[in-house]
Amino acid sequence: SITRHYNFNIKLQNVTRLCQTKSIVTVNGQFPGPRIIAREGDRLVIKVTNRVQNNVSIHWHGVRQLRSGWADGPAYITQCPIQTGQTYVYNFTVTGQRGTLWWHAHISWLRATLYGPIVILPKRHVPYPFPQPFKEVPIIFGEWWKADTETVINQAMQTGLAPNLSDAYTINGLPGPLYNCSAKDTFKLKVKPGKTYLLRLINAALNDELFFSIANHTVTVVEADAVYVKPFGTNIVLITPGQTTNVLLKTKSSVPNATFAIAARPYATGPAAFDNSTTIGLLEYKETSLSNTKSKNKKLPPLLRPVLPKFNDTVFAMNFNKKVRSLANEKFPAKVPKTVDKQFFFTVGLGISTCPKNQACQGPNNTRVAAAINNVSFVMPNTALLQAHFFNQSKGVYTTDFPANPPFKFNYTGTPPSNILVSSGTKVVVLPFNTSVELILQDTSIIAAESHPLHLHGFNFFVVGQGNGNFDPKKDPSTFNLVDPAERNTAGVPSGGWVALRFVADNPGVWFMHCHLEVHTSWGLKMAWIVQDGKLHNQKLPPPPSDLPKC
Ligand code: C2O
Repeated sequence: SITRHYNFNIKLQNVTRLCQTKSIVTVNGQFPGPRIIAREGDRLVIKVTNRVQNNVSIHWHGVRQLRSGWADGPAYITQCPIQTGQTYVYNFTVTGQRGTLWWHAHISWLRATLYGPIVILPKRHVPYPFPQPFKEVPIIFGEWWKADTETVINQAMQTGLAPNLSDAYTINGLPGPLYNCSAKDTFKLKVKPGKTYLLRLINAALNDELFFSIANHTVTVVEADAVYVKPFGTNIVLITPGQTTNVLLKTKSSVPNATFAIAARPYATGPAAFDNSTTIGLLEYKETSLSNTKSKNKKLPPLLRPVLPKFNDTVFAMNFNKKVRSLANEKFPAKVPKTVDKQFFFTVGLGISTCPKNQACQGPNNTRVAAAINNVSFVMPNTALLQAHFFNQSKGVYTTDFPANPPFKFNYTGTPPSNILVSSGTKVVVLPFNTSVELILQDTSIIAAESHPLHLHGFNFFVVGQGNGNFDPKKDPSTFNLVDPAERNTAGVPSGGWVALRFVADNPGVWFMHCHLEVHTSWGLKMAWIVQDGKLHNQKLPPPPSDLPKC
């Protein structure tokens, strides 16, 4: 293994989309941002220099960060933000992982334009457990606002109302031909017939789960969140914000007389009005030089479009998620915890909260929209939790009384309780080193049933069960899959249902867990776990690097 160095200069760049130019925050002027490539076992040293007016931090989404929590990146959780003119070096090793992950800004809504792929190749001379692809292509989905996204979220937080919807979805930063004046801003994938392509799908959209499909082509899912899965064929892939999915695309054996749309649009179950517009890229077969001369005067081949499920197709979503299973073979065993030391039952969902002082919120009786876990809407601290934890300075920063169970139970898929006011606080759960955790996440369906892609930093968890309706502690555990469950870092809590996760707390530090729908995170659907040091030297979190930013 080697050390790979990257320089990330955070700077402004003018970018034009949908006929409008705006200045956006970028890495090195690139949008989407640069691709990071490593091999399993390599060390990454990424020097981030902030040359914009906003505070910045970068998260390496899905990287386990074993004993390197100082490099994880969420602002006010593992570090104070990098202020204007400052530099912070993220230094970490990618251990025991290979596949597609991604990086993004982890403060406010800056990730709208600050994101890019992380490609972790297997160790040298170690093949993939599937046919070697002819070519590998990252496909990263995003969302584009004509307005400045920091203004969009700041206004929403001021008023207590939902933020404005994005104006387009994008593929590799490009909206595609279905949007106004975007025909030239279309992603094109030029392929040869009879070859296998590895598409590295990344959902970097802020607020929408997405259906993805390529007209007249089936893909084979081979990996999810940088873990190999049992290959399965499908016309449609469902991918939540935060998730990554590798698929193999086998091209047709001869050049067809058609161009095929690569399309993505939302899977949305929530109450908010949503945008069901579609981003399209083009899958184009390269003509051989011979057919090229022949077809010189031919008109363009027809563009075929795929059929996607309807926007609220929860049945498709449940079935798709159940198909994702770990490869779980000798070479890549699924290390599912067979026993559980500590059980948690967390409700996730929306609610309302009282309006902050000196603010006029536009909800009923001066309230605002809020989101909570076990009825606690998380309040961001003013200093980083990891620092406070490491230096034993928790007083006034956080409390360790995050509830293991909801404060009151109700029929989560029936009529919501009359009082939907949430409490708020900076509360964490403390776990002794190596605790084996079982976590049930239940959608509360308050306001409406909604799917929540929950992301856990610092770990992969096993998705041992999922179902519709209320979780039944007497019946449902008997259905758990402890053999080959999906192992991932982001899983959707089904709309009006529950998901059961297991993980071992073998990584000391402070680890954020939140809904990866950015609007829900902004509303407080987040919390943190503190994992204590173990007894042995190699079970302890080392001290912070000297350049760790100060608040
Ligand atoms: Cu992809 Cu906490 O984030």
